[in-house]
Amino acid sequence: MLADPREAPVEAAYAYHEDGLLVVEDGHVAALGPYTDIFPTLTADTPVTAFPGKLITPGFVDAHTHYPQTDVVAAWGSQLLDWLNAHTFPAEQAFAGRAHADEVAAFFCEELLRNGTTSALVFGTVHKTSVEALFEAALARNMRLVAGKVLMDRNAPAALTDTVESGRADTEALIRAWRGRGRLGYAVTPRFAVTSSDAQLAMAGEVAAAHPDVLIHTHMSENLAEIARIRDLFPNARDYLDVYARHGLVGPRSVFAHCVHSTEDALRRMYAAGASIAFCPSSNLLLGSGLFSLKRACDCGVTVGLGADIGAGASFSLLDMMGEAYKVGQLCGETLDPMHAFYLATLAGAKALRIDDKVGNLCPGKEADFLVLDLAATPLLARRTAGAGAIAEKIFILSILGDDRVVERTYLAGKLAHRR
Ligand code: GUN
Ligand code: ZN
Repeated sequence: MLADPREAPVEAAYAYHEDGLLVVEDGHVAALGPYTDIFPTLTADTPVTAFPGKLITPGFVDAHTHYPQTDVVAAWGSQLLDWLNAHTFPAEQAFAGRAHADEVAAFFCEELLRNGTTSALVFGTVHKTSVEALFEAALARNMRLVAGKVLMDRNAPAALTDTVESGRADTEALIRAWRGRGRLGYAVTPRFAVTSSDAQLAMAGEVAAAHPDVLIHTHMSENLAEIARIRDLFPNARDYLDVYARHGLVGPRSVFAHCVHSTEDALRRMYAAGASIAFCPSSNLLLGSGLFSLKRACDCGVTVGLGADIGAGASFSLLDMMGEAYKVGQLCGETLDPMHAFYLATLAGAKALRIDDKVGNLCPGKEADFLVLDLAATPLLARRTAGAGAIAEKIFILSILGDDRVVERTYLAGKLAHRR
């Protein structure tokens, strides 16, 4: 994708080459275009790999997920606040042990790559070592990943809480230790305002202000019982967004997961601040949180990316998320254009994570994170894509019928990182 398809005519927002050639040099895209134009510009000794019948796309960017919840996926029977207590908090306590964190981090990174996700914004747990384990796993694979240690100083099991000062110290130490290493980034990560005191939210805002290169990553307005709890905890705040805004946590580096129930007024204030939303359709459906109106958020101008939100969400695949987003749209009376869905899963996510100067599409100069997709990965996919016409139709079929089986290869900075 070259631009937001809602700001341009859809056809002008992307480039598709039926017989294309992608040139990679030193881990970056050197050229991209029709084979007949690009091939003559290559020197005779340039190695060329052919993928006949396959689709080459940018890697997916997951705008919100939790690696410590890998073993929570597909937990039956509850909505957000009960689900956190019954499933998530017990699972996160196991991350006090570094060996467990290392094992899950490795599995999680491999699962991202198997699903074609080359960049992600990821929650750790409250344990500093959980983020160290994830960063080491991502660094070893050269993934462009942004993560942070959860800040949580109340309304959670004692084993999962930090304090204002330990949260500050751990966050600062992680930023210092990991800044500039590989393709990693840090996000200051208060879980949500239910589990952080005013003092801790203020600290998070101070740390973010002191480090202009870090993101701010949290949850907001996901579930009605959660919102009622926020009203009780912060009776003087204008609304949920205001709780974050008064602590300096709403700006161009903020990514808010969900915002299912955000008012138009809040969406407009998010847009004015330059903040982004991670739309997590699988999670919203499974937890019964509600239906996110993408149209309303887009009409207010807010940047929206797509999040798998493991483990409330049930799949690592952003193709799956595109399909789930379409279904949520149907229930909202909105018809999501396939290329808009593809934009959400790639360039829009990169914009939300403020890495769109580096990844998100295959424009020359960007890092060569790309996928080779098999349009015939299953018998039904083969049948349906064979009969499809325009690329948008093929993308739509992939979003409804596709998953990790479609991802034949994943490349990170020009190097093969996963092969099916
Ligand atoms: N709100 C606060 N914590 C969480 C979490 O772990 N998952 C989801 N989906 N929502 C949250
Ligand atoms: Zn989440």
